[in-house]
Amino acid sequence: MIKVAPSILSADYVNLQKDIEKVDKAGAELLHIDVMDGTFVPSISYGPGFVKAIRPITKMVLDVHLMVQNPEHILPMFIDAGADIIGVQVEATQHIHRALQIIKNGGVKAEVVINPGTPVSAIEPVLHMVDQVLIMTVNPGFGGQKFLPESVEKIAQLNEIKKQKGYDFDIEIDGGINNETVVDCYKAGATVAVAGSYVFNADDPADRIEAIRQATK
Ligand code: DX5
Ligand code: ZN
Repeated sequence: MIKVAPSILSADYVNLQKDIEKVDKAGAELLHIDVMDGTFVPSISYGPGFVKAIRPITKMVLDVHLMVQNPEHILPMFIDAGADIIGVQVEATQHIHRALQIIKNGGVKAEVVINPGTPVSAIEPVLHMVDQVLIMTVNPGFGGQKFLPESVEKIAQLNEIKKQKGYDFDIEIDGGINNETVVDCYKAGATVAVAGSYVFNADDPADRIEAIRQATK
């Protein structure tokens, strides 16, 4: 069964605590927090203060996805804010190895993220040092986009390297995930599913989380 990481990008910001409690009660293992800087992606979302405010209200793993150009400078703020996992996009820095080192030295789990147009080979040199790899299944920047089916091949390719080298990182997928699109990703080796609009644009987020689980039994 896949682990579920609801993305609060699609939550109700006015009633955020209630929405977080709903997915927490439903047993979601991670809470996915999308940080967007208006440069690496067109949208702007929230910063370290937001992570800090959420930290005391849930025990879920705080999975922070930085869609931020040159993230090195702001990593210490997210480490201090209480993130459990911090993901950096390989396209956003000339120093991916250094960025991952900063995260790990801060005692936080390190994740590398690749966009749909970036090959798996671009992250091979840092796979030995990560706790999680995020394969974007849409182009980042917005919730509610359509899943890109060509992502499945990349998940399988990454999973093959993982097996061959004996790595134990999680493989996360993000973008357009629902109870149907998750199936092939899970079969290809994905272990964590981010879902934003599918979970929160529903009368009962718990039902949607359960549907993802049932689809990957
Ligand atoms: C996209 C973000 C996603 C987004 C997913 O840039 O990284 O985490 O919230 O939203 P859905 O599940 O609606 O595609
Ligand atoms: Zn994300």
